[in-house]
Amino acid sequence: MEQAGEQALSSVVWHPNTQMGEWDEFGEIVQGRGMHLIDKKGRKLLDGVASMWCNVWGHSRPELVRAITRQAARLQHSPLFNLTNGPAEELARMLIETIPGMHRVFYSDNGSTAMEVAFKMAIQYWSNEGDSGRNRIAALSNGYHGDTFGAMSVGYMPGFFGAFKGQLFPAVRFDAPGGREAPGGPTDKEIEEECLGNMEERFADGTIAALAMESGAQVAGGVRIYPRGFQRRVSRICKRHGVLLILDEVATGLGRLGSMAEYEAQGGRPDIAAYGKMLTGGYLTMSATLATKKVYDSFLGGYDENRHLFHGHTYTGNPLAAAAAIENLRMYKRRNLLDKVAKGARVLGGYTEEISGMGRVSDVRHAGMLMGIELSRGAPKGGPSTNKIIFEAGRRNGVYLRTLGDVVMLVPPLAMGPADLRRLVEGTVRAVREAPLDG
Ligand SMILES: Cc1ncc(COP(=O)(O)O)c(C=O)c1O
Repeated sequence: MEQAGEQALSSVVWHPNTQMGEWDEFGEIVQGRGMHLIDKKGRKLLDGVASMWCNVWGHSRPELVRAITRQAARLQHSPLFNLTNGPAEELARMLIETIPGMHRVFYSDNGSTAMEVAFKMAIQYWSNEGDSGRNRIAALSNGYHGDTFGAMSVGYMPGFFGAFKGQLFPAVRFDAPGGREAPGGPTDKEIEEECLGNMEERFADGTIAALAMESGAQVAGGVRIYPRGFQRRVSRICKRHGVLLILDEVATGLGRLGSMAEYEAQGGRPDIAAYGKMLTGGYLTMSATLATKKVYDSFLGGYDENRHLFHGHTYTGNPLAAAAAIENLRMYKRRNLLDKVAKGARVLGGYTEEISGMGRVSDVRHAGMLMGIELSRGAPKGGPSTNKIIFEAGRRNGVYLRTLGDVVMLVPPLAMGPADLRRLVEGTVRAVREAPLDG
């Protein structure tokens, strides 16, 4: 029998982060071509969220398709347990050359697992060092690190994860700067100073194993861009107190904000850094947790000392995903991707003032190929969500959009050119204007 609120839905897939009861159909995507997704009805949607922030070059890019099919014909999968494979080795070497200060690469499948690995590395590092009292993870409020239990514990978002609160491990949290200043509330500068002062004080008791934070900006938390110098100052405080710094570059590294290792631009020096999303250009699922020599060396010893990292997944180091990632990173160089990102960032940034001035918009935050448009109007009570309303208005205007809370996210494929970027922003502006929001 149909449940209350459930429509006659043809999809039998349980969709992620979705109130299934508010959908009566999902547009079925049958093809990806360049910067567009094409659905069964032939509607072309400009991919405004890079298919969940991972697409780099657009869809069906011949070089990437060739790299994957070539590898599939040779070796589709072999484990990293007792063995290795060429693409996983080559990719790890490329990552170590690209991401400064890092010594070893641990593979997993997605951003959440990359962060789980990072937390486990940090906690076990201190256990290996004989200081198992240093076992707390610290984090920034509003941070997001994925949907698995460890990731929810550290990147706790009350609106998302309230049902699980009692089962999560306790993390130490600091309010971070970078959001919209509330009228009459503290300034961003005051929030920054208080955050750093609190860290300095809290870290002194020697119980914090690591601080985990997104690098450069908090993305899922509403596109909150850190003030210049903030990450560098955090990094210094961590070093001063021996706290490991875990930087989550899953959404912001590999070019999203303009640098391969965003922490280089921010002036942070992590002990552990996590990458995912763009790693394979958005073609296959793979992530990587990178560690410095100091961290890696603490896991070495005799087998029966139990110092080795207790973590591993079936598809760790999958050669197909690695082949896609190798070709993707080669293309970054060959096609000067960071120059394209810089150009794209200027195009997006050029709209900030105009969008800020729109009715229905309370703030616009932008860095690199990332823009958050904060709405001052939400969905009318009792009806569809803001996300669904904006998605449908976007689709009518030929753009694929997804909101997080009341923030419309623009996270386009990194290589999207100026003409498509203009179409994307202009379609989004029309969608926001036309959407049947409250008021
Ligand atoms: C900063 C950050 N970390 C981790 C994740 C989790 O990645 P995944 O969805 O691939 O598990 C995300 C996903 O959006 C993210 O933005």
